[in-house]
Amino acid sequence: MRFLKYGIAVAALAAASLSLNAAAASDDPVADRKAVMQSVGAAAGLGGGMLKGQIEYTPAAGKAAISTMNAAAHTFGGLFPDGSDMADNSTAAPAIWDDRAGFDAELAKFAAATGAAAKASGKEGPADLDAFKAVFGPVLGTCKSCHEGFRVK
Ligand code: HEC
Repeated sequence: MRFLKYGIAVAALAAASLSLNAAAASDDPVADRKAVMQSVGAAAGLGGGMLKGQIEYTPAAGKAAISTMNAAAHTFGGLFPDGSDMADNSTAAPAIWDDRAGFDAELAKFAAATGAAAKASGKEGPADLDAFKAVFGPVLGTCKSCHEGFRVK
């Protein structure tokens, strides 16, 4: 059962990364940034599931969740060109364009947390669940404040 859930989470992460690659060539910044956040959501599902003990921890899965987040932190900020704020399929808030400095500050927190996690994970990924928790917990702590300020429901 545990194994099954792990497989589903990894498959979701792989699917999100695939759609991310497809989106990267799509020339559609709204689709691209949604795909990036979907990969972040899948990585949060995998990492969060391991933290809750619902998915068995492995260093490779820890590393996959962290690298997905870190890649997202470095591409996401470039996907908000002028004119892409009015898309009706987007939940990006007008504040992103009205207060770019504030949005950049949230992006910087996300990049700092994911960068530290990537650095700590080394080649093999965090050795055990405690080591993973120490670096992935702060990454999950950055979702809420950015969504509160820069996303509409
Ligand atoms: C720097 C700001 C920022 C951070 C940090 C951030 N998000 Fe987001 N997120 C957004 C914005 C903006 C959107 C809306 C994008 C759009 O619809 O154009 C979004 C959308 C999403 C979506 C919906 C994607 C879709 O299909 O529409 C998910 C899921 C998500 N975020 C998960 C997360 C998780 C989990 C974290 C933390 C690990 C996180 N986000 C961190 C800004 C952020």
